Amino acid sequence: MYLTTNLNSLKVTKFVASSLKDRSLKQTSHMKKQFNLMMLVMALFACHTLIAQHASEKYRPLIHFTPKSNWMNDPNGMVYHNGVYHLFYQHNPNAAVWGPMHWGHATSKDLIHWQHEPIAIYPDDLGTIFSGSAVLDKNNTSGFGKDGIAPLVAIYTQHDEKAIKAGRKDFQNQSLSYSLDNGKTWVKYVGNPVLRSPNNPDFRDPKVMWHEPTQRWIMSLAVADHLNFYSSTNLKVWDKESEFGLNNGAHGGVWECPDLISFEHNGKTVWVLIVNINPGGPNKGSGTQYFVGDFDGHQFKPYSKEIKWLDFGPDNYAGVLWSNTGNRNILAGWMSNWLYANVVPTETWRSGLTIPRELGIEKHSGEYYVTSKPVQEIAGIQSGSLSFRDVDLSKGFDLMQRVKNASIPCHIDLQMLKLKNVELVLSNANAEELVVGFNKEKNEYYIDRTKSGKTDFHQDFPGIFTAPRISSESRMKMTLVIDQTSIELFSDGGLSVMTGIFFPTTPFTNIKMRSSDGAVINEIQYRGLKSILGK
Ligand code: FRU
Repeated sequence: MYLTTNLNSLKVTKFVASSLKDRSLKQTSHMKKQFNLMMLVMALFACHTLIAQHASEKYRPLIHFTPKSNWMNDPNGMVYHNGVYHLFYQHNPNAAVWGPMHWGHATSKDLIHWQHEPIAIYPDDLGTIFSGSAVLDKNNTSGFGKDGIAPLVAIYTQHDEKAIKAGRKDFQNQSLSYSLDNGKTWVKYVGNPVLRSPNNPDFRDPKVMWHEPTQRWIMSLAVADHLNFYSSTNLKVWDKESEFGLNNGAHGGVWECPDLISFEHNGKTVWVLIVNINPGGPNKGSGTQYFVGDFDGHQFKPYSKEIKWLDFGPDNYAGVLWSNTGNRNILAGWMSNWLYANVVPTETWRSGLTIPRELGIEKHSGEYYVTSKPVQEIAGIQSGSLSFRDVDLSKGFDLMQRVKNASIPCHIDLQMLKLKNVELVLSNANAEELVVGFNKEKNEYYIDRTKSGKTDFHQDFPGIFTAPRISSESRMKMTLVIDQTSIELFSDGGLSVMTGIFFPTTPFTNIKMRSSDGAVINEIQYRGLKSILGK
């Protein structure tokens, strides 16, 4: 729309210029004035349309994946193959709100820069394409491989609106597609669906992994308020192994998008079961809980009853991991929340992906916890670095004044040897601010976006969100990944994590730090981050 307006104003300018040539000299000076006035009006008009064009994009993250246009939610089918990270995602190509789901597709060599690819999987007679996973079937157990090419196999839920209208409950079933050309094109399996709903309306989001000890594929599947595990030798025929969750974890909403992964920890294999839940997250709405325990190829047994959250912020949902990444465990989530995802003020597209995170496992006071850190590949977009030592915050600290050419997006690391209150504030000329901080008395981290700009599009958007400090170390560390419209906090080596999005009316350009009880920050490291958007 804006492009057409600009073209039209250009055409008018040309017309005015040529008609002027025919006027007498006497008229010229008067006409010149008129012409100049017209040019000025048109320049202002063009300028307005350009600003309007820019405005519709002004919230687009600079270092996070977002769809080119229209809607996205969960990351799907994430798989690493032949040096390429594939990201498929829940996508409505026809509108910037949730609708008939397709699998959108993007690829990356470094988990940071993304290339948009054509839509990978389209809805068919069996339904639209809901969330799921993809695996490299190295040994061609499925038989989909050809001429020595191992297939990539996608396993996803088909959601059948026709069946819902017909009053049926078995409208979510699991199907397969495979690719023999590195994920470019996908062929639907003629035997779909491969796993039918047992008449449960919530029966979805298959995440499949190869279980080496039993030499079988294991599928974790969300079934309303619990998970089912299934096994298969060929990805086509699935046997139920067990159920998990009726007596474990948070149950404030429906369980969705599970993942089962393993870590080697002090010579022991430790299993982590990730379960997304909506609503019922730690700060309202969508959230990601996890369980640590044993998995023997049949059953998952948690070590403890404690409810643990992968991210306490409001905006990291449906996170699962890339498959086929060797001993790296890399997760990315949908950077939004079902409470307000459909109405965030981005208009031409909606939602993005969190920074991919490397997961680890640590033991604290007898309990295992998963840690998350931005993947090391983020170093590839760093530009310049500046460090400060022993900064006394009793006088405040203006980062933008101290760092020449400092800007957002950026990556900030802090270390404080003596625990005190500390706040980092992003702000703009309109006195809007986004605050991230640590409250010593409550021993918790927080993100306060109550005054962060546009917040009135949904009652649950403004708020102060908190995360407990899990670490008991005396020193405290914070890593912040700050983009134009999001902040990701990884505290104490990734033990307490928070992700939040925000929409200032003009971009935040100031970063200041303050403390109500005179904290001294022993180390501050600022690193600029280069935009990943094409010029
Ligand atoms: C999670 C979810 C999944 C479902 C998909 C539909 O956000 O609700 O359970 O497969 O989104 O888009």
